[in-house]
Amino acid sequence: MPLRFFSKLQSIKQIQMESEILTSEIKTSAPDFSKIRENFPTLHQTVKGRQLVYLDSAATTHKPVQVIEKIDHYYRLQNSNIHRGVHYLSQLATEEYENARIKVKNFINASSEKEIVFVKGTTEGVNLVASSYGNRFINEGDEIIITHMEHHSNIVPWQLLCERKGAVLRVIPINDRGELIMEEYKKLLNEKTKMVAVVHASNTLGTENPVKEIIEEAHKYNVPVLIDGAQAVQHFEVDVRALDADFYTFSGHKLYGPTGIGVLYGKKELLEKMPPYQGGGDMISYVSFERTTYNELPYKFEAGTPHIAGGIGLGYAIDYVKGVGLQAIKQHEAALLDYANKKLLGIPGLTPIGTAEKKSSVFSFVLENIHPHDIGTILDVEGVAVRTGHLCTQPLMRRFDVPAVARASFGMYNNTDDIDALAEAILKVFKVFG
Ligand code: ALA
Repeated sequence: MPLRFFSKLQSIKQIQMESEILTSEIKTSAPDFSKIRENFPTLHQTVKGRQLVYLDSAATTHKPVQVIEKIDHYYRLQNSNIHRGVHYLSQLATEEYENARIKVKNFINASSEKEIVFVKGTTEGVNLVASSYGNRFINEGDEIIITHMEHHSNIVPWQLLCERKGAVLRVIPINDRGELIMEEYKKLLNEKTKMVAVVHASNTLGTENPVKEIIEEAHKYNVPVLIDGAQAVQHFEVDVRALDADFYTFSGHKLYGPTGIGVLYGKKELLEKMPPYQGGGDMISYVSFERTTYNELPYKFEAGTPHIAGGIGLGYAIDYVKGVGLQAIKQHEAALLDYANKKLLGIPGLTPIGTAEKKSSVFSFVLENIHPHDIGTILDVEGVAVRTGHLCTQPLMRRFDVPAVARASFGMYNNTDDIDALAEAILKVFKVFG
């Protein structure tokens, strides 16, 4: 076990106390979101001579100074490899990293930190399950169910598995608002189904899917469910045990933390019976040329030196988000989406893509006769950052019969001025294109 040189309890307590202080410093009875905005240095700059208006948080969120400082502190004073040294710095880094795992466990209410595997991001989380679980338990003629609104990262790993094993991909259709047609899902489930993989909140449409019901239906057939939470955990509370999710994966960088770090939650009994994903240092217990045995969970799935600063940074990002409060963030972003709907839906020639009743803070749209790439370019000149293109959801583009979309997406630091700036910039786009 990698913590072999490491008596962790006392120092972990110390780190936890520091985190609690950080959390309580931020927490007020009702968070002041204008003050929160001040914590994000990237937002306070001009771009092309204009104040930056950042509306691309679904691609990546900015990082609060509290997280940036912790990462800086790690590299200045704690940098060392983890799980490997008896020396002071190695133990300190190990403690910080393992404490981050505990923070993740508490954040999503997993039962044990053994169920928290650190990965590069959501994409690697899905690939790990498709490779490890898929190679061992999915065979020719078996079926895997996904939805029409999946990001490519929750399509292609399953397609690769289908190619390897001769399994079949089934797709739950959506209606014109961008909501899953649940009756069709129920019809797709059968004895051949071996995995259901569904996005919790769509990066393109914003649709929040009824994942609890999806999981309940799959479990009637003893089918495990993987939830892609990349666009969920930063917007509302996720409780993997209340959902009864078998696998849940998300990225640190969309949760106000660093890039290159993410989480795969898996139920212990599933992770136990899955083979390793990659081989290397740290994931082993004993190696000889004849035979290798593997480390215990979660280390069995963490080959090689991980993104230590990333894991630690993610832990502090979770402290920050918890300090603000996900309930408050959810309300704040819902109010922004409401404001955006009022402000933008009235613009002639603008068509929204994704109008689900239950929706997170994403506003995708097209403008009549103007390519989304041109929209993005003009908005950029106005200092407004949005994402344009197929947003890694090409099947969705075909479903809505558009080549691409423009997407404004909101984080906790956005305000109604940002949406006013977007509305004005959209009017400019129309002017430029006559
Ligand atoms: N998946 C991220 C997005 O939707 C990159 O922009």
